[in-house]
Amino acid sequence: MTRAMSPSRRGFLGLLGAAGAVGVAGLAGCGFPRGTLGEPLTSELPLPRPFRVPLPVPRVARPVRSDGDTDYYEITQRESEVEILPGVRTAVWGYDGLFPGPTIESRSGRRTVIRHRNELPVPVAVHLHGGHTPPEHDGYPTDLVLPVGDAARSGYAGHAGRAGWSFHRGAKEYAYPLEQRAATLWYHDHRMDFTGPQMYRGLAGFHIVRDDEDDALPLPKGDKDIPLMICDRAFAADGSLRYPALDPSLRDEPGVRAAYMEGVLGDVVLVNGAPWPVLEVANTRYRFRLLNASNARHYQLALDPGPPEGASFLQVGSDGGLLPAPVEHTALRIAPAERYDVVVDFSGYPVGSEINLVNTLGSGGVGRVMRFRVARRERDEASVPGRLSEYEPLRRSQAARVREFRFRRGTVHGMKGWTINGKAFDPTRMDARPSLGDVEIWRFTTDFHHPIHLHLVNFQVLSRNGGGPRESDAGWKDTVDLEVYDEVEVITRFTGYRGRYVLHCHNLEHEDMAMMANFETV
Ligand code: C2O
Ligand code: CU
Ligand code: CU
Repeated sequence: MTRAMSPSRRGFLGLLGAAGAVGVAGLAGCGFPRGTLGEPLTSELPLPRPFRVPLPVPRVARPVRSDGDTDYYEITQRESEVEILPGVRTAVWGYDGLFPGPTIESRSGRRTVIRHRNELPVPVAVHLHGGHTPPEHDGYPTDLVLPVGDAARSGYAGHAGRAGWSFHRGAKEYAYPLEQRAATLWYHDHRMDFTGPQMYRGLAGFHIVRDDEDDALPLPKGDKDIPLMICDRAFAADGSLRYPALDPSLRDEPGVRAAYMEGVLGDVVLVNGAPWPVLEVANTRYRFRLLNASNARHYQLALDPGPPEGASFLQVGSDGGLLPAPVEHTALRIAPAERYDVVVDFSGYPVGSEINLVNTLGSGGVGRVMRFRVARRERDEASVPGRLSEYEPLRRSQAARVREFRFRRGTVHGMKGWTINGKAFDPTRMDARPSLGDVEIWRFTTDFHHPIHLHLVNFQVLSRNGGGPRESDAGWKDTVDLEVYDEVEVITRFTGYRGRYVLHCHNLEHEDMAMMANFETV
């Protein structure tokens, strides 16, 4: 077995601390063919026939108490056995033992406090992706919650005292001010070097922020407003989730087998944790909050057959909430961590129609996602207005400065990994210090396919390869998809909280193999 990263049991950080020497090798002339996005794993048991399992919708968590301005929740992270493939038991690591975790619903401006108790055998960090959150509650990768009653295990206790690491014993209270507009956020694990395998085991859930502006629109509501978490997995013969970790206990040694360093791909597509599910719908409009929660897989979503007239997807929101006006798509590319809030209108399909949501970047099993079956006729109460929200486009002339970030394959101490500006992630090194209140342009260049995510702020895509943004780049985003050799500029205003945050590739194998950098708002 060849290994990527981690020649020492102290993990990747230990290496960097030792010498800090990072070489970037083989950049010139190493062409990556478009479409090479990761390495597929094959399931070792028979896969179910698609479109048999009803679509589950994650339950909405209830606060344990509320006061004038805050709702309090308690979540226990634990292992549980669930039925993902019909008739097969699969062990997952879930928030309250669930995969996906319970959906948290918050009001904009109302504080949400979530106490996370860790009954898993490994440390965790919880990140609210898309949250405008103070640094001590943001789930920084080395700000860890240790397992209950197991605070001194050698593997990670070895990190104690190392600069930049902190530990909470058994539980941590995360407080979210949520002074931000309505949007589809999600929460997931963010443990240093182990985010890929820990999310793969199930540590991800929705966190939906609502506000008056969004509520006042006549968009589909209630049971016609459905979050869809799309991710791929592979299964071992015993029903467990297959992942090529060097250390399957995920205790000490990070990294994946070398063949998987570009990203781990499964052969089963799950929506809300169910394989190729089916949803019965009325012949009306529905609002779907699409999230790609895959480790590495990109999708191009389309409806088959498409509607007899009109676009398949009417996009009303992006990562950061409502667009100024709806945007039509016949196909929608979605990179890991991106969200698209879309309205699909089933009124053009006769009752009895079956419409597949397909992935045109895949074939066979990974070419399908789920199915809608038009089961009944109903009067449609919903509509999509031509104007959705206020939007302030940021202009190039407002920017106080431009920073460059180069995302590249690299070599660290003779091993393969991923780098930003030639460097591997080091929690003790500050890579950028934007001032609060400033507008900045961040220019990203790449050799490979990387979905780039910033914590704390939302941004606007300013340009792609010298031209304008794509249609699907519209609105406020926190993750932008870079394709092979792309150059993308984003513009943002740093607001809110002072402190240390990260930006990173959201291909989780790249993230775990060092494609992360720090910024500090000052
Ligand atoms: Cu969704 Cu830092 O990640
Ligand atoms: Cu984030
Ligand atoms: Cu990447």
